[in-house]
Parts: sequence; C-alpha cells; structure tokens
Amino acid sequence: MAIAYLNGTYLPLEEARISPLDRGFLFGDGIYEVIPYYQGRPVGLVAHIERMLDGLAAIEIKTSRVVGEWCALLDDLVARNDGANCNLGVYVHISRGADVKRFHAYPEDVEPTVFCFTFEIKDPEPADREQVHAYSVTTSEDLRWKRCHIKSTALLGNVMHFQQGYASGNSECLLYNTKNELTEGSAVNAYIVKDGVVVTPIEDNQILPGITRRIILDSLENDGAIKVEERAITMDEVMNADEVWISSSSKEITPVTKIDNQPVGDGKVGPVWERAFKIYTAAKFEHR
Ligand code: PDD
Repeated sequence: MAIAYLNGTYLPLEEARISPLDRGFLFGDGIYEVIPYYQGRPVGLVAHIERMLDGLAAIEIKTSRVVGEWCALLDDLVARNDGANCNLGVYVHISRGADVKRFHAYPEDVEPTVFCFTFEIKDPEPADREQVHAYSVTTSEDLRWKRCHIKSTALLGNVMHFQQGYASGNSECLLYNTKNELTEGSAVNAYIVKDGVVVTPIEDNQILPGITRRIILDSLENDGAIKVEERAITMDEVMNADEVWISSSSKEITPVTKIDNQPVGDGKVGPVWERAFKIYTAAKFEHR
C-alpha cells in the first residue's frame, strides 16, 4: 500500500485528508514538484528542491526546511515505498494552507500544507531509435498564464491543452505564443533538431525551467559532440525540423514523430535523439 506524507505524518495514501478550505483546493494556491527515482536513485533531486524553494519564495509561502531536510524527507518516503526495487515519481505539493474563510489575500499565521506521495514510473525507454516508443502530438496557441516559470499547482490551463491532445489520440500538445514561436508542451519542454543542431526555447516566463532540460543541455555541452542552441523557434521551424523531442522528469527525452498528423522529418526517430539519449542516460545520476 502506498505510503504518503502529510504535515509531519506518514500514513496510507487513502487515509490522507485535508480541509476543503485549503487554499490549494480553493485557489490552486501552491507549488509542486515531481522527482524521478530509479531503484532508489534520484535524478536532479537538489535542483528540483531548489526550483520548489524559488517557487515558494515567488508566491511568499514560507517553509522552515532547508534543501538537505527536503532531500532527507523524500529519500525517506521513497524507502518507505520500496523504492530500492522499483522506479518511483515523487510528488511534492506545498499549498498555502487552510484558512477559516475564503478570502483572496494571503492569510497570515496559516501553516502551509505539505503533502507528498509516490507513484510508479516506467523503466527508461531503450536508447535505440528502432525500439523507442515515439509520440504523436497536436499543436495549439499557448493559452496559459504569463508566469509559466512558476510550477504552480493551478494547472487548469495545462490540463486543458493536454486534454486537447489526448482527446484526439495524441500524447502531448505543443504550444506556441502570439508570435508563432514554440513555448513548450502542456507538461513537457520541447526541442527541435535541424542539421545536427539541437535547439530549444530560452528560459523565460513562457516556459517552466525544466530540470530534465537543464540536465540534457549540461550533459550535451559537457560531452561536446552535439551542438546546442537556446533561442526562439518559429512553428515553421518546428514543422520543418529533422527531429522534434520533448522532455520531462517522467518521460526523460522522448522523440516526436508526428505533429498534427504530419510526419516529423522522414517520420522516423532520428539519430541525434539516440546519441543525445545515450549521453543523457550516462550522465543523469551525476545530477543529484
Ligand atoms: N511536468 N513544462 C511543464 C509545463 C511541465 O509541467 C513540466 C513537468 C516540464 C518538465 O519539467 P521537468 O523536466 O522539471 O520535469 C516542462 C511534470 C512532470 C508534471 O506536471 O507531472
């Protein structure tokens, strides 16, 4: 049975209860993270916690725990869920807490709600372009808010975009801004490959600064074999790319072979994906 953590207590997930006046429930007033652990080994744990603390500071939720204490808490939760023998995503959710009324302004003297649970994630895909499962995606104008760099629990905008892709038999929805430039996907960062160069949008308020994205860019730069650029990408470039990839903590680097029913490049998973995925796989556990 899955063991969760709620406000200082470990308990079976089914028994976890929060107040209906919790501002996470009423307003989506909180910050979350998802951290992958493979057989008990995390990828990017410290970077995830640092991003979470940045998000909490941005919305003025105070937490007394420092990075090392968060890491210890999550390692402990993974151990309690038999994490040494499986692959787990750890979900961490900190809301502003439960007030006694529904009032928009930040309340004072309310304890944040801290909720964590684990869920199984699949084994990494084979680093083989003939065997990997590739995605088909749709596209849409990005209709979320202008603070996408904050990993807010208020995900309705993302959920609606994801559902648009899902309902039409696709696995993601790539988003573009009013200048027809790629931002990211509904729950992933996005990349194109053209003439051997990997290109991804810069980090700004239009995208989440993905931890997987950072590990990919750092490991490719350290390796040196594949050139990487961070710059604006038009949707015309996306539709004419040799390869398109998406990334996230649970999907690592996943190739996209169809966009709006059109093949990407020759419609097959490309060689740069295979090379980059091998480089990422060799380096990912160095990013604790
Ligand atoms: N999604 N962009 C968005 C909008 C995301 O929601 C995510 C992660 C990413 C990738 O970030 P990272 O590499 O740090 O996982 C980019 C998580 C996994 C989710 O909501 O389940």
